[in-house]
Amino acid sequence: MQKRILGKSLEVSSLGFGCMGLSHGYGPAIDTKRAIELIRSAVEQGVTFFDTAEVYGPYLNEEIVGEALKPLRNRVVIATKFGFTFGDDNKQQILNSRPEHIRKAVEGSLRRLKTDVIDLLYQHRVDPAVPIEDVAGTVKKLIEEGKVKHFGLSEAGVQTIRRAHAVQPITALQSEYSMWWREPEREILPVLEELGIGFVPFSPLGKGFLTGTISAEATFGQDDFRSQVPRFSPQALEENQKLVALLNDIAAEKRATPAQIALAWLLAQKPWIVPIPGTTKPHRLTENLGAANVVLERQDLASIAQALDAVQITGERYPAALQARVGR
Ligand SMILES: NC(=O)c1ccc[n+]([C@@H]2O[C@H](COP(=O)([O-])OP(=O)(O)OC[C@H]3O[C@@H](n4cnc5c(N)ncnc54)[C@H](OP(=O)(O)O)[C@@H]3O)[C@@H](O)[C@H]2O)c1
Repeated sequence: MQKRILGKSLEVSSLGFGCMGLSHGYGPAIDTKRAIELIRSAVEQGVTFFDTAEVYGPYLNEEIVGEALKPLRNRVVIATKFGFTFGDDNKQQILNSRPEHIRKAVEGSLRRLKTDVIDLLYQHRVDPAVPIEDVAGTVKKLIEEGKVKHFGLSEAGVQTIRRAHAVQPITALQSEYSMWWREPEREILPVLEELGIGFVPFSPLGKGFLTGTISAEATFGQDDFRSQVPRFSPQALEENQKLVALLNDIAAEKRATPAQIALAWLLAQKPWIVPIPGTTKPHRLTENLGAANVVLERQDLASIAQALDAVQITGERYPAALQARVGR
């Protein structure tokens, strides 16, 4: 697979693999052996960029990623995230980016990832109780100590990005971006371009919706985050099928699948964008990686842009409590 550069120097495959769904977010964790095989298969298919976080599980996802990549460590870039404490039952997500907590989180991540250095360390959500300069300064020291190589933020607003970057250059911002969440185009992408920061779109397949496999009648279990997301309510799912219809048309024309079109569209936006789709299924992994070979020409992109502008999306991307944590 072709490579891309995040920030000034972090080289990764043009598509990464988002590992969250293997054990967090979309129902029960899959069998550990299968998860490990899937991650190793991604490496065999050319993926060199793996995304996890302390909060996925919590902890379990990092352990699986660490076990899977241990024998392949020198071939891959591992990204993880700090920014929460979890309460006594490990179930709450309490924002915490205090410097001493960042250090503690990094020690835990290094242990679970079975490595002596984290290639890319993101703050998972901005913590309004801690000045971003303190967060960036702490990561700067961790970089000087050799425990971390690159610094990233997730779902941060432009002022936070500028302030953090002034203390410790940011290699990548990881935020939601896809054909049905294009908000980053307004303010975020121009600032990233100006500062030379890479962009890692999460949920690039719209949490599965953009693959065309989630019907208007789909329902989600209580342990599936989508059961709380307004955009996946029955009414929203029905109304948003018009986007799937559009994707199906483009996919048929380009002899690709809707998932591949959704990913190829992201890749075509900027050469410094690296999406990290997730799946629990080997055949879908291969399908998604095939997007790296789908070429969207200038006129394809223009007609897709026109069609997307005409589609009104129904429903927020987050429930209110989580929406309050993004864009700060
Ligand atoms: N920074 C953050 O706050 C944040 C937030 C969310 C996610 N992330 C990261 O971003 C990664 C990707 O995001 P995501 O997992 O939320 O969403 P996504 O990649 O947009 O979609 C994943 C969903 O799509 C389904 N899927 C994948 N490929 C498919 C295909 N070819 N055909 C049909 N269905 C397909 C998967 O189901 P199956 O497993 O059944 O295939 C899964 O339910 C995560 O793994 C995580 O690392 C970061």
